[in-house]
Amino acid sequence: MISLYVHWPYCSRICPYCDFNVTRDRGQASQRALFDAILTDLKTQADGLLDRQLASVFFGGGTPSLLPPEWVDELIDAARSLFRPAPNTVEITLEANPTDAEIGRYESFRQAGINRLSLGVQSLDDAALAFLGRNHSGNDAVRGIETAQRVFGRVSLDLIYALPDQTVAAWKGELWSAADLGVEHISPYQLTIEPATAFGRAVHRKLWAPPAQDLAESFYFRTQETLEALGFEAYEVSNHARGKAARSTHNVHIWEGIDYIGVGPGAHGRVTRDGARHATTALSDLKAYTARVNEAGIGCDVEALSPQEAEEEAAMLGLRLSEGLDLKRTPSLDLAAKAASLIEDGFMAIAGNRLLATAKGRVVLDRLLFELLS
Ligand SMILES: C[S@@+](CC[C@H](N)C(=O)[O-])C[C@H]1O[C@@H](n2cnc3c(N)ncnc32)[C@H](O)[C@@H]1O
Ligand code: SF4
Repeated sequence: MISLYVHWPYCSRICPYCDFNVTRDRGQASQRALFDAILTDLKTQADGLLDRQLASVFFGGGTPSLLPPEWVDELIDAARSLFRPAPNTVEITLEANPTDAEIGRYESFRQAGINRLSLGVQSLDDAALAFLGRNHSGNDAVRGIETAQRVFGRVSLDLIYALPDQTVAAWKGELWSAADLGVEHISPYQLTIEPATAFGRAVHRKLWAPPAQDLAESFYFRTQETLEALGFEAYEVSNHARGKAARSTHNVHIWEGIDYIGVGPGAHGRVTRDGARHATTALSDLKAYTARVNEAGIGCDVEALSPQEAEEEAAMLGLRLSEGLDLKRTPSLDLAAKAASLIEDGFMAIAGNRLLATAKGRVVLDRLLFELLS
């Protein structure tokens, strides 16, 4: 099996909290050359993997809903003709923002083959959206969700919580409203202050502060409880789905260590060739990426992971899932023994052949991983 991640870096405006590999969309003429480079990169990286079954495609960014639907169609066609299609529907997700211009194009994206929309609504509250520097209102978000539900059926919402001055009660209200709109999947993210962003600089200058650690934890646990009560199962640290079929196949594959090709500036990939897992990292500068593809056919650096590195990565990814890590993926790390005291203290558990972080453990997952892997 194989999955495909496509990174489209352009955004209408750059949000003050975001440190993804993004570039302001000014209608640059070079956008088509970048897209052609992405297509070439895909074809080159697919070489030697053509017998694989295509399980999922994920258009992330940046804002891939700014792509012309015809280009999306071209890329999906290329992916479908390069690999064997999966016997069931291939899950093809597009990240989108709920602005007027983009909502008007959902139908064309559906026709191009997109069958799942990941909608970056971030909040349903106008004051919170203004604080987050978003170019849409709460009403736009609701309209975007309703249209997406009608057009795609499968809709996921990204929401950001733990904003300064936000109360847990107000946040729970937003979760209730989001669930009421009928979506099958919610990804709530705690606001992270990234140093190299406008928010990072504001917090550094003490203009405002995010909630303290204990309040942030309280937000996290109330989020879990509220979504659970609304019928959303927490299948990963920040991902909640109404039933197994509503999980993101693409992301579950990545956490389970299934191979994926990454194309587009800054995209990562993991591909097994000749029995060794290889990490690919695409150049993040747009011009450098395009130039590298035009020169070498691929836009990424490729590094073979040692068996130990591959197992450690499998642990870091697998333990994000509520169902945990299949210990067959990490035969030389002896994790069950290393986790003994964490199991005794209720942070981890063993279920069959799987090691998992409990609800109490998942909130401190980085610390658990440090103890298990250092
Ligand atoms: C890379 S964005 C792409 C989606 C789309 N461009 C958008 O903004 O809606 C993916 C998601 O990451 C989340 N995100 C980005 N930066 C974040 C931060 N500093 N703290 C919390 N969540 C963040 C947002 O919820 C966002 O929807
Ligand atoms: S949050 Fe989304 S829209 Fe905002 S800058 Fe990041 S990728 Fe672009």
